[in-house]
Amino acid sequence: MMGMNVGIVGGGAMGQFLYTQLQQKHLFCLTLYTRTKEQANQVSQQGIYLYNGNQRKHYSAIAESIDKIKQTDVLIVTLKQYALKKILPILYCQEFQNTTLVFLQNGMGHLEEIEKLPQSKIYVGTVSHGVTKVHTNEIIHKGIGPILFGRFRGIDNNFENHMLTFNQEKFPLQFLSDFQKVLLDKLYINAVINPLTALLNVKNGALIQNENFREMAHSIFEELDLVFSFQEKKEEVWHSIVQVIQATAHNESSMLQDLKNNKLTEIDGIYGYIMREANKKKKDIRYIPFLYNAISGLERRNLQ
Ligand code: PAF
Repeated sequence: MMGMNVGIVGGGAMGQFLYTQLQQKHLFCLTLYTRTKEQANQVSQQGIYLYNGNQRKHYSAIAESIDKIKQTDVLIVTLKQYALKKILPILYCQEFQNTTLVFLQNGMGHLEEIEKLPQSKIYVGTVSHGVTKVHTNEIIHKGIGPILFGRFRGIDNNFENHMLTFNQEKFPLQFLSDFQKVLLDKLYINAVINPLTALLNVKNGALIQNENFREMAHSIFEELDLVFSFQEKKEEVWHSIVQVIQATAHNESSMLQDLKNNKLTEIDGIYGYIMREANKKKKDIRYIPFLYNAISGLERRNLQ
């Protein structure tokens, strides 16, 4: 099982974290593809620093900028949904026809674009590790969570077998055939936690510790139920969201961090999709569009 070439696209927290973890068994020849040449140079020259509690680990790395991307067995795309336009056109080139593609984005809005791609093996998935980028090549790992790969199209047994050798308590991962469920479960979590914590400027835990905020979180959940009809699963879904809030109580959601850092948020990928679904199903929702406008407005103000 040697020598699979794997490109990780995106030099954010998730891309760098996956690089450090997948490098460990020397099963993959890895390249990290970053948006800027400057970041690629820095990562190649200095490697990646991963902080975990009081520990600091150093990993050497090979990085290139995205425009240098070349033929590879697998491409793991960790860019945020709104940044996918940087990579999607490249994937139509002949040299990527046989590449297995793995898309790890929050939300569901990107599926329509992925559907059009010509590749025969495509995965979509979610990563629930708490990782934050602090500098160009420095990341902090704050919490363990599962990595779930949903089989969107075809199966690459070689890739799955290679990946499954990494599955362990501190790096749990799974391949599932029901890709919709993989993405929806994470969508419900992100929909309840991210916009509200970003607007209120609170850590995730506040959504259950503060009674008023909990009620607000529950109102969003009720609207999700209206759109996605949880039926007998309703309690289970709410419970799974509460569990994530508890597990990440001391963390700031990625959307709050994005707003604080004056970056684009994932509001379109998360709420944009839900609002389109509500529209299709003729469901009258209020809180979600209200929050959508709040976050979009803050984003716009910060980016001006
Ligand atoms: O986006 C995030 O911040 C995370 O996915 C989660 C699980 C909501 C925890 O903060």
